[in-house]
Amino acid sequence: MKIVVLEGSPNKNGSSNMLADSFIRGAKEAGHSVQVIDAAHANVHPCIGCIRCGYEGPCVQKDDMESIRPAILDADMMVFVTPLYYYGMSAQLKTLIDRFCAFNSSIQRKRMKSALLTVAWNSDNWTFDALEAHYKTLVRYLDLKDQGMVLGRGCGTTSMTKHSGYPEKAYELGLSV
Ligand SMILES: Cc1cc2nc3c(=O)[nH]c(=O)nc-3n(C[C@H](O)[C@H](O)[C@H](O)COP(=O)(O)O)c2cc1C
Repeated sequence: MKIVVLEGSPNKNGSSNMLADSFIRGAKEAGHSVQVIDAAHANVHPCIGCIRCGYEGPCVQKDDMESIRPAILDADMMVFVTPLYYYGMSAQLKTLIDRFCAFNSSIQRKRMKSALLTVAWNSDNWTFDALEAHYKTLVRYLDLKDQGMVLGRGCGTTSMTKHSGYPEKAYELGLSV
């Protein structure tokens, strides 16, 4: 299976990408091919809501989405990777997801698999309630098949994350998909 990993953290060597790296290691061991899309550093502009795409067509904005769109549509699975920012996903990842507007039906038709990998400073049991609800709503709306979530509580620094069980959980998820 072809997997695209959408990385939404501005910290290339941060905690979110630590989970992504572990997931990728597991997924490759399981025989999958993986393409990483660094959404946080890509040249992707916010959707301007013009609807010139008609919700399924070429976007008026000519930026890195021109290569990201075919990469996503060529894949069987999407993995969303993000730090928790004010109890939601990062603006960087959300900006990319909003651009799905121009190929929404194509994504829905594919019935892709998906997963969520995320980290946060807080460790309260409600830390990921809002992000989890958002992810599950995206799964429902985009007709995705959820393969699992790794919700890294108490992962405020790379050292905290490294010493938590979450990288291992991400590895196991990668191995299992
Ligand atoms: C702008 C911003 C907002 C944040 N919001 C939250 C939050 O709402 N809850 C929380 O627990 N941690 C929050 N954090 C902490 C990060 O989620 C946490 O440090 C995470 O490990 C960063 O991941 P990274 O290394 O991939 O950047 C925030 C950090 C930043 C920079």
